[in-house]
Amino acid sequence: MRTTEAPDTSREREPAGDPLAEGADVWLLAEEDVERFAEATGGLELLTEEERARHDRLLFPAARTRFLGARLLSRQVLSQYADVAPGEWRFDKGRFGRPTVQGADWGLDFNITHTNGLIAAIVVRGRTAGVDAENTPARPEALQFAPKVFTPLEQEVLRRDREDQQGHAFADSWVAKEAYTKATGMGMARGFDAFSVHRLRGGGLAVVDDEIPQEERPLWQIQVLQVWDRFALGIAIRGSEDEPGPIPVRLRSAMAELLPEPSAGGPR
Ligand SMILES: CC(C)(COP(=O)(O)OP(=O)(O)OC[C@H]1O[C@@H](n2cnc3c(N)ncnc32)[C@H](O)[C@@H]1OP(=O)(O)O)[C@@H](O)C(=O)NCCC(=O)NCCS
Repeated sequence: MRTTEAPDTSREREPAGDPLAEGADVWLLAEEDVERFAEATGGLELLTEEERARHDRLLFPAARTRFLGARLLSRQVLSQYADVAPGEWRFDKGRFGRPTVQGADWGLDFNITHTNGLIAAIVVRGRTAGVDAENTPARPEALQFAPKVFTPLEQEVLRRDREDQQGHAFADSWVAKEAYTKATGMGMARGFDAFSVHRLRGGGLAVVDDEIPQEERPLWQIQVLQVWDRFALGIAIRGSEDEPGPIPVRLRSAMAELLPEPSAGGPR
């Protein structure tokens, strides 16, 4: 039984030497670099008409910047793993709005997140993934929402954390849970108090969700990475039945790795 809305990402056209064969890549783009990234990679021209219309409807310049950054990052990133030009990708949307790559040819799944200061995109092949980023530590006011988004046990764990660590603990738990619901495709349509994420004794996290069929539970991998000292980055990956076990995650820099090389001697 499938518990996610992601497409069937079978590996029909997996290229030889596939960098995604072993693990997942998470690409990072700082919000302050979006303008330069857009100039170097084609900017608004690469978006579909519908995406441009959505972009233009956004009222705040920062929201427009993040929206554009997320579109361009996902297009550039996906083109690293398939013989498709960045502007040619087309996307479908799941019942709760989860974007997926149209056509299952390349077996790719991706997910994006944007928060104040950071845009991130995760890409996997033959697996399903979700990503969420938030500034950390969470603001003290955010802690009042704990009863809405954490189970009673999660809330107790949070309360028992050292007081000066609670903002980080809140952000970590939040991004872990949201990354998981984004991988399943439900997002916040899923009640966040209906499942939990727990720390494991040896480090690492585990999702406890009665709605995951027993045999699928070992396939889920949840983790939280600290990025640039300011962000908690939640990552959820559902591995495939034929290769359970830890899935390595590589963090990669969009500015360092995706921009075209400046021509020798030419202006930047
Ligand atoms: C998905 C969701 C959790 C994202 O919340 P957020 O923290 O504000 O945003 P993030 O930056 O982490 O992620 C946004 C991106 O996630 C992706 N996304 C949207 N819906 C998604 C879903 N259901 N599952 C996974 N990813 C989703 C999109 O790429 C989106 O980017 P965009 O807004 O630029 O198009 C939230 O929007 C949600 O719960 N949506 C579903 C709600 C629903 O029931 N919708 C009903 C009909 S559409």
